[in-house]
Amino acid sequence: MFWSDIMSEMQNIQWFPGHMTKTKRQIEKNLKLVDAVAEIIDARIPISSRNPDIAQLVTSKPRIVLLNKCDMADEKATKLWIEHFKKQGIIAIAIDCKSNKGINAFVPALKNALQDKIDAYKRKGMLNPSMRVMIVGIPNVGKSTFINRVFKQNKAKTADKPGVTRGNQWFTISKGFEMLDTPGVLWPKFDDQLTGERLAFTGAIKDQIIDVELLAVRLLDLLKELKTPDFIARFKLDGDTISDIDSYELLQIIGKKRGMLISGGEVDTERAAIMLLDEFRAAKLGKITLEFPD
Ligand code: G4P
Repeated sequence: MFWSDIMSEMQNIQWFPGHMTKTKRQIEKNLKLVDAVAEIIDARIPISSRNPDIAQLVTSKPRIVLLNKCDMADEKATKLWIEHFKKQGIIAIAIDCKSNKGINAFVPALKNALQDKIDAYKRKGMLNPSMRVMIVGIPNVGKSTFINRVFKQNKAKTADKPGVTRGNQWFTISKGFEMLDTPGVLWPKFDDQLTGERLAFTGAIKDQIIDVELLAVRLLDLLKELKTPDFIARFKLDGDTISDIDSYELLQIIGKKRGMLISGGEVDTERAAIMLLDEFRAAKLGKITLEFPD
């Protein structure tokens, strides 16, 4: 299958127009209830994991960006991204829902983004206004994990407040701040091959609809150039000559090193491809960011 076929199949399966209209309507409905929106993106692919229609959808509400999975991204690149958003007037923070890193910075960031609104309420005489926020993001970016983390951290507070339980739609995340417990699912954009590829590398798109060998070869095209020490060491490769090796051949070399052979001594390249993608997605080949500002 060629990339163009794969891309159109991905679009058809995951985001057929009816599905998109439904989720869009749902988000628009929930947006009316909130004061701010927290958009979760993948710190490894901040461009591809962002829905370009977000600004149009959210319109005038304050927005903050959560660069999630920062445990798997290049730290320097994440800092560049935070600066980049800051220049655009958007508060961005790096978070890691696996270790809870950065989660505590969420409420202060939110407060910062909503300060003008809070001040305006106070001027009108509302001393303790309650601000509401919802989480949005494309599938698999970590929305549910993040909501669970924030919920667990604030469980006591939530239970203390009569009428606010997990069963309700809102829970208190700090004094004066509530979060909607269901996230808004945004659709990814498959505008070009690179976006589709990067979403697939990180596992945002299910492997059942992708040619894993083709994807692994494309990933190797990248890894050959990046030459991260973890990648080189893990497969005992020669960093000096690796760029000269054809990527499919490299997949065979890697498979062979892991003993992935089928009858006749041939390499099981499909198994090797799945293994390579799994290891990349678990950041075993290094903390790799695939997209940089500008
Ligand atoms: P979604 O609601 O946006 O669709 O995403 P979800 O929370 O289901 O997260 C998708 C996957 O990403 C989950 O892995 C989750 O554990 C993982 N994840 C979320 N945040 C982080 C993070 O900050 N760092 C890392 N390394 N992973 C993160 P999974 O394999 O689908 O499930 P599981 O193995 O964790 O059960």
